[in-house]
Amino acid sequence: MFNRLRQRLFRFMVQCLLRGVSPSEATVFLASTGPVLSRCLYVVAELGVADRLKSGPLTAQQLASALCVDPDALTRVLLALTPTGYFRRDRSGFFRNTPQSRALMTDHPGSLREWVRYAGAPWQWKHWGDLLETVEKGGELRCGLLFDWVETNPEIRSQFNAAMQSKAKQIDERIVELFDFSHFRRVVDVGGGNGHFAHQLVKREPGVKATVFDIPPTISSLRKACPFGPSHDRIDLAEGDFFKSVPEGGDLYLIRHVLHNWPDSQARMILENCRKAMKPSASLLVVDMLLNQNELAPRSMDVAMLHLLGGRERTAEQFKALFQQAGFELTSVQRTSTPMSLLVASVAAQSPILVPAHSG
Ligand SMILES: C[S@@+](CC[C@H](N)C(=O)[O-])C[C@H]1O[C@@H](n2cnc3c(N)ncnc32)[C@H](O)[C@@H]1O
Repeated sequence: MFNRLRQRLFRFMVQCLLRGVSPSEATVFLASTGPVLSRCLYVVAELGVADRLKSGPLTAQQLASALCVDPDALTRVLLALTPTGYFRRDRSGFFRNTPQSRALMTDHPGSLREWVRYAGAPWQWKHWGDLLETVEKGGELRCGLLFDWVETNPEIRSQFNAAMQSKAKQIDERIVELFDFSHFRRVVDVGGGNGHFAHQLVKREPGVKATVFDIPPTISSLRKACPFGPSHDRIDLAEGDFFKSVPEGGDLYLIRHVLHNWPDSQARMILENCRKAMKPSASLLVVDMLLNQNELAPRSMDVAMLHLLGGRERTAEQFKALFQQAGFELTSVQRTSTPMSLLVASVAAQSPILVPAHSG
């Protein structure tokens, strides 16, 4: 994979030199057209092109008539994606899936179709036009913005929850492999979304119960959908606002892909409310990306958090400081084969801020 990328980069450099364009200018040009590729990716995900190619190759004409779209425009969008590895067109004009485009199929085990549809949705895309304003005025302007939309707009809420589930699937398995949940009786999933992790967890660990805690509209959709099948009696649903309080009674508090949504002051408030709900013996497990030198995924997610929510990705040191301020002690940091890391903390012996709710 790495070698293939290196060969491609080398070919690209040679082509640039032959055409008399310096590689740095060409790189700038390519980056400036990045949004075009991102739009093309959204279009094929929205149309479900990869699903159509699942049972075999099709020409652009065949695809276009099945999808009721313009054949010329669709061909050009597909051909803009093929140089980056999405789809392949053979000599007779048939398009077929590649490993990359298979990740856009709805039923692919690691499907990112819902994520791409959410990340490229017109309401979100329009908002990216204002990034310059965020940089001029700072992220505070955007604090919690995305969740205002999620809370008030059912369509955005269902897109958002589907996207989170699609993104999280890849890490769910790694978390349950790397972290031993069997020692705990009740796990409180703070900002647990549509409960997919809690569901995976109780299915795998017969002795564990879970509480999914989230905003009222998300919990009420979950109550209506009843998605947990036979495991439902081991999953409690609790609605509320983690800036006010968090349910008591857990011996593990899980905060997954949540702290990065918020600036330090708010992230600290969430942690403090967990701390207040926790017995001194309870543990905290935070799952988030760690900022690390020049890695592209956390760096671009950091800007997404800044602009959509006023949040931020953090280094391990920044998490440690945040935990300390909220009365926790960071006990371990475990990196995974995905961009996510597991940070485990315990209640600090001398909490600087709080009287434990369960003292006595
Ligand atoms: C990025 S999602 C993560 C969802 C889930 N933990 C996961 O890993 O897929 C953040 C979650 O925080 C929830 N949330 C946002 N504001 C909240 C609040 N004030 N109180 C409780 N939950 C909140 C959102 O509804 C959403 O489900």
